[in-house]
Amino acid sequence: MCGIVGYIGDKNASPILLEALRKLEYRGYDSAGIAVISAKKKLLVRKIKGRLSNLDLLVQQNPVEGNCGIGHTRWATHGEPSDLNSHPHTDVSQSIAVVHNGIIENHAQLRSWLERHQVSFASQTDSEVIAHLIDFHYNGDLLLAVRETIKRLEGSYAIAVVCSEHPQMMVVARKDSPLVIGRCEHANLVASDVPPLLSHTRDVQYLEDLDVAVITSEDVQIYNLDGERLEREVQHIEWDMEAAEKCGFEHFMLKEICEQPKALKDTLRARFKEEGLVFPQGVEALLKGAKHLLITGCGTAYHAGMVASYVIEQVASIPVEVVIASELRYRPLIKKEGEVCLLISQSGETADTIATLRMLKELGIPTLALTNVIGCTISREADWTIYTQAGPEIAVASTKAFTTQLLCLFTIAALLAKQDSAALLQALENLPSQAQLLLDRQEDIQRFAASQFNKTKVFFMGRLVDFAISLESALKLKEISYTHSEAFAAGELKHGPIALVDTSTLVVALCTQPTLYAKMDSNIKEVKARGATALVITFEHVHTFDDTADTIIRLPQTHPLFSPVLSVIVSQLYAYYCSVLKGNDPDKPRNLAKSVTVE
Ligand code: G6P
Repeated sequence: MCGIVGYIGDKNASPILLEALRKLEYRGYDSAGIAVISAKKKLLVRKIKGRLSNLDLLVQQNPVEGNCGIGHTRWATHGEPSDLNSHPHTDVSQSIAVVHNGIIENHAQLRSWLERHQVSFASQTDSEVIAHLIDFHYNGDLLLAVRETIKRLEGSYAIAVVCSEHPQMMVVARKDSPLVIGRCEHANLVASDVPPLLSHTRDVQYLEDLDVAVITSEDVQIYNLDGERLEREVQHIEWDMEAAEKCGFEHFMLKEICEQPKALKDTLRARFKEEGLVFPQGVEALLKGAKHLLITGCGTAYHAGMVASYVIEQVASIPVEVVIASELRYRPLIKKEGEVCLLISQSGETADTIATLRMLKELGIPTLALTNVIGCTISREADWTIYTQAGPEIAVASTKAFTTQLLCLFTIAALLAKQDSAALLQALENLPSQAQLLLDRQEDIQRFAASQFNKTKVFFMGRLVDFAISLESALKLKEISYTHSEAFAAGELKHGPIALVDTSTLVVALCTQPTLYAKMDSNIKEVKARGATALVITFEHVHTFDDTADTIIRLPQTHPLFSPVLSVIVSQLYAYYCSVLKGNDPDKPRNLAKSVTVE
C-alpha cells in the first residue's frame, strides 16, 4: 500500500527521497511524488502517475533542490491513479504539502465543510482534506496545526507534512498506519518501513498511535495530541542493507525463496535452547493452559493458520478454529472457556488483523501475535508476541515469512504434543537442510514450469495439510503469474471441480499423507481420464503414483505433518518461474500490495 518517506538534513533531499521511494516499491503503487522546500522557502512539488522511473524523469527535467522534503508512492483507493490524485497534496496557497498513507473515513464531511469555507479541491482523494485542514488551523505553528487537524480525522493515517515557512522542520504523525523515524548525524528520516532507512542508519524510533513528531536535522521531539512530550525508545535494527538488497538475484522473490533454509534455521535457533523448547515469557503457560485455539490472519498468513490447525489438533488434541481476519472481525464471536487467539501477520500491520485483535482484546480473549516485524502494531498491541526470524521480506508474494510461520506453529504443536515430542523436534531440526536439498534441485521445477507456464487453468488438490498447501499454492500462482488457479480438497473433486477438467488443465496433486495415498491416486486417475496433465508432489521413495502421474517432484522425507514447509517451496518456485516466463515482474504483481493497511 502507499509508502511515505521524508528527509531533513544537510544534503539535497530529492535524490535521497527518490532512492528511499525505490525501497518502498515492493509495497505496491500506481503513482509517486515528492515535495521539497527550496532555499528560497518555496514549496516545489513533482508528482506523476505510473512507475518511479516517470518521477525520476520528471525530476531530471525539472529539478528540485532543498534540504527538507517528503515523498510518496500511492496505491489508489479514493480516486483513480492520475497525476492530480498523486501525493503530495497541498493547500490552496501551495505552502503546505502532505503525504498520507491510510484512509480518512470522514473525508466527505470534511470536504463539504472545507468547501463551505471556500476551499477548492484539486483531486478526488480523501487525503487532500488533510492539507487544507492544516492550512485552516495554521497560524505560524505547524505542530499545533497538525495536532488540531488530527483531532478532526477519523480513520487511519501516517502523514508527513512540510511547510514553506519552516524549511528546517517536518511534522509527522500516525494512527493505525506504520511510521518509523531513522536517526542520523545531522539528518533524520522518516518512512513507512525500515528498508529506506537502512542506507542511512540502523537506529530507529517507531511512532505509536496518535504520536506527533517534530523532526529537524538535529533532533526529534515526540508529542501526544495535547502537546505533552513523549519518549520513544531508539531501537537498533539488527539486519542490514544486504538483507534488503537483491544480492545478485534477478528478483527479491527468488532471493527470498532461496533464503528459506537460513530463515528456518534462524527461527529454530530462537526456539531451541539447551533446556529444550523456549518461548517468550508467559507464552508457554498461556499455550499449555489453552483449551481452545482460535487462529486468524489474512492471505498467506491465514493459510499458515490452516496448516497449524491440522497439526495442532492431531498432535495435541486441542480444538483449533481458523477464521480469516476480515470475516472474524464481523462475526458474532462466542467466547469459549480457556480460549486463546493466535494472530498471524508477517508485517503486523494488516488492517483486518489489527481490527480483529482489538475486538478480541475488548472481549477479554488472550491474544498471541506471530509476526516478523519487531515493533509492528500487532506486536505492540497483542498480549504476547512470538517473532519469526525471516528477515525483511520485500517481494509482495510471501515465501520465507510463510515457512517460518509454519515452523513457529510447528514448535507450538511440539510443545503441546501429547506424545512423540522428541521425534517431532528431530523432524523440525532437519527441515532447514531438507529445504536446501530441495532448492538444490530447483532446475527440475524450472524445467517443468517451462513446459506448463502457458496453461490457462491450474488446479491444486490435496487432503488435510496438503489441502491447506493447495490453497497457498493456488494463491502464489495467481498472484504473480496471473494464471487462473484454484485449490480444493481432493475429496471435493467429484462435487464440482471435475466439471472443469479437460485437456487444457494442469492438476497439481499434493500427496504427502501416507494414509491417504490410495485416495489421492484415485483422484489423480479421475483427472487423467479427462485429459488433464498431472503433477504429483510426494516424498522420495513413494512409488504409489509412478504409473499415474505425468511428472513427480519428490520431497526429502520428513514427518508427514511437516511436509508443508517443503511442498510449498515447490509451489513457490513453480509460480516464480511461470511468472518470469510470462514476462511478469514477480516482485511487483499488478494490483497487489505487500501490506494491506486499509480495509
Ligand atoms: C497481502 C500480501 C500477502 C500477505 C497478506 C497478509 O495480501 O500480498 O502476501 O499474506 O497481505 O499480510 P500479513 O502482513 O498480515 O501477513
